[in-house]
Amino acid sequence: MTTRVAILISGSGSNMVTLVKAMQSGDIDATPVVVISNVTTAAGLDKAKALNVNAVALDHRPYKGDRAAFEAELNKVLNEHNVDLICLAGFMRILTPDFPNQWKRKILNIHPSLLPKYKGLHTHQRAIDAGDDNGGCSVHLVTGELDGGPVLGQVAVPIMENDTADNLAERVLVEEHKLYPAILADFIKQM
Ligand code: GRF
Repeated sequence: MTTRVAILISGSGSNMVTLVKAMQSGDIDATPVVVISNVTTAAGLDKAKALNVNAVALDHRPYKGDRAAFEAELNKVLNEHNVDLICLAGFMRILTPDFPNQWKRKILNIHPSLLPKYKGLHTHQRAIDAGDDNGGCSVHLVTGELDGGPVLGQVAVPIMENDTADNLAERVLVEEHKLYPAILADFIKQM
């Protein structure tokens, strides 16, 4: 039986698009059943619809910081779509530890740094400021610790002289689009 995958986004959804295309082409043995965004205006929602994937906007704001109540609603949508596996792809909402506990080893995330370095935000600027030779990206399992779960794969991207966070981010994103589908394909084979 095919693995039913949900992709959670908050923004442009370029990683989501690469994952959906890899599933639809058969490179990943899975089906993208729903894309959920906590930002109602996220450009990724229209991109999902254009790829014929169910797109659901689930605004976190009415929950006024009640993360558990937001996650209860999120679980409702995931269960309605009989989801087996969740891919976070630019999903900018912090989850309570309960959520990954309910979905143990069933949530992957892509993070734009060479974890365990630079958990959280502004990863590229922090790598540049530290004088690192490389930035990069990591795909990891999501646990209760922010950006802290076991790393499944990562790619280093050399930092050039005079790099800005923006142009480093652009080069890292190119690698994200290759790394995430490759890791997801392997992960699903081992499920
Ligand atoms: C990516 O750099 C991802 O690693 C980070 O947010 C960005 C999302 O980009 N968490 P997109 O929405 O997939 O285009």
